[in-house]
Amino acid sequence: MPKAQRDLPFAPLSEAFAQNPYPFYAALRDTPGLTYFEDFDVWLAARFDDVTRIVTDNRMVRSMEHIAAPEEVAAQKRAGNWHDMPHHARFVQFSLLDSDGEVHDRLRKQVFKLFTPVMVGRLRDEIQAYVDGLIGALCDRTEIDFVEDLAAHVPGHIIGRILGVPDEDCPRLRVWSENIVQYFDIDRSNERKALAERNTTEFYLYLDELKRERERAPREDLLSQMIASQRAGHMSDDEFISTAMLILMAGHGSTIDVLGSGLHALLTFPEEMRRLRTDGGLMKTAVQEMFRYESPLPFFHRYATEEVDIAGQVFPRGTKFGVLYGSANRDPAQFPDADRFDAGRTPNWHIAFGRGAHFCLGNHLARLDMDIIFSTLLKRFKTIELTEPEVVYKRGLSVRGPEALKIHWQPA
Ligand code: HEM
Repeated sequence: MPKAQRDLPFAPLSEAFAQNPYPFYAALRDTPGLTYFEDFDVWLAARFDDVTRIVTDNRMVRSMEHIAAPEEVAAQKRAGNWHDMPHHARFVQFSLLDSDGEVHDRLRKQVFKLFTPVMVGRLRDEIQAYVDGLIGALCDRTEIDFVEDLAAHVPGHIIGRILGVPDEDCPRLRVWSENIVQYFDIDRSNERKALAERNTTEFYLYLDELKRERERAPREDLLSQMIASQRAGHMSDDEFISTAMLILMAGHGSTIDVLGSGLHALLTFPEEMRRLRTDGGLMKTAVQEMFRYESPLPFFHRYATEEVDIAGQVFPRGTKFGVLYGSANRDPAQFPDADRFDAGRTPNWHIAFGRGAHFCLGNHLARLDMDIIFSTLLKRFKTIELTEPEVVYKRGLSVRGPEALKIHWQPA
């Protein structure tokens, strides 16, 4: 397959893309076949059918180790400035998410049962109490930044609770998580690299110490359960730390982002906010629609382990695909009136949590957080409005969410 770079208006690192990526995605979807994007050396899949096809095909993997010799993997790491970061390589570059086959299945099995709807549902009262407390502390103010003052506190606190991190340490999780995750995006300068490595090291030492505490005195938390798995021989020391880190990081920024863009969508479609206020039973579909409408993790990748035929093109083993969940979720061939936010949209088989072997483990938890926060907001505030019409979105292809969301609100 010739890798001719097509002349496409696709500029994922630009400000225009950050503010509104959807015309760019539409142009990609309208281009026949998949499109080679030289900057990232990937073939981009933008249509819902192509994206789904790739991520549910068991010949596709996330980890390059399956398709390249160790020297080639090392060379690629150097090219991407992923080398010389020993802790990051041990605990972040290797993970449940970035493994495949037997290793992936084994690790996923160790933590899967704690994220089922029943287990997550047991956290409802605790999340509600935490959100009530946060809102209670803010409601004397007429104006807040919804992202920084409210959304940013919830996911870290709740995931920390599940794992067994003491409440007073949860704010540190956010700092570690942000400084590590930022390195997956565009700017791979040596300064950011050093920051990611330093934060991975601190995070590792912290988790290692907490693990020792739980080994001495187990509790009813995920860390204690993972220790039991490890004792039964299902996890190595490094896998233990890497899995705990992934759980803490995977749903952190993404939940904050979709809380921000979800509220922004309700403010942009006030008739949908009114619908939700009059029929609280719509909250479940409204939350699903928030994930579809502004997918907070819009871009992932896969490698082909053998020759594959996608969208009428043949790709050799080793091809890297960029799967655009954010674009698939706006594909009009799958979602009627796809650019409209519809709080009651049914069916809504969006792909914001992926599909196939790597389907998001935390999806029930993320949806529960959203349900509780939005239900509480609508109950406690009779008006919520933007203080400034312009909302600035984060730059980059891998994340989608507002930098800030300044609102004023009036208690009911
Ligand atoms: C806004 C919320 C979230 C979104 C949009 C999201 C999205 C995703 C997506 C798209 C994947 C699959 C990646 C791929 O296809 O390559 C994934 C995997 C994963 N997510 Fe989430 N996620 C969210 C929240 C969470 C939360 C709250 C947790 C944990 C508490 C979590 C834990 C995980 C884990 C462990 C994986 C790896 C699963 C595997 O490889 O088998 N996520 N997530």
